Amino acid sequence: MLIVLLFMISMVLVAPSILSADFSRLGEEIKEIEKAGADWVHIDVMDGHFVPNITIGPIVVSKIRKISNLFFDVHLMIENPEKYIESFSKAGADLITIHAEACEDKKTLIDKIKKLDCKAGISINPETSVDEIKDFIKDVDLILVMSVHPGFGGQSFISDVVPKIKEIRKIIDKTGKDIYLEVDGGINEKTAKIVKENGADVLVAGNYIFSNEYKSAIKSLK
Ligand code: DX5
Ligand code: ZN
Repeated sequence: MLIVLLFMISMVLVAPSILSADFSRLGEEIKEIEKAGADWVHIDVMDGHFVPNITIGPIVVSKIRKISNLFFDVHLMIENPEKYIESFSKAGADLITIHAEACEDKKTLIDKIKKLDCKAGISINPETSVDEIKDFIKDVDLILVMSVHPGFGGQSFISDVVPKIKEIRKIIDKTGKDIYLEVDGGINEKTAKIVKENGADVLVAGNYIFSNEYKSAIKSLK
């Protein structure tokens, strides 16, 4: 019984962020992380406005959709997300996460994502308070806590966000619903342990996985 319980407590999903993949061979990279035990693919969408970097659009998502059945976890770091949600859904996103800082009417957007048959997530930056999303936690499938300032891979984990992870875990548990708590930025073997202990159950990792041997890196996060 205790062993089963310990196993359940330590179960997390690992979502490699393809931001750190070799984009010249993106399809192969996705197949390799799939073979290495990735649960999801984390797709970082940046627009050069909400964050100072530009990455992937719906066209790329639709192409990689053709070569992978993995769950596509699309993280929109863009302004005016309402304009692009439908395109990403049509391109094959399984889950679309919007940033609390990028939208006024969060509930309408969450409902719009769900109507498109996608799971809906909401994210907060390191300096954003849990109060900004408190009222919407019960409505989403995933909360994403950023543990770096969004925009680039390979940054160091900001440990100030740990109390927020703990606070959100408590709120999720009170809802009694299956809502994922994902943490993104600076995740490695050491920081994975900290965020798991504080209630995270989906770990995004880019640099750590793609600069190591994929299988052992994913295993070490679990
Ligand atoms: C940052 C992105 C992250 C990033 C994580 O803006 O949202 O998903 O790729 O990369 P690492 O794990 O390298 O911090
Ligand atoms: Zn991300």
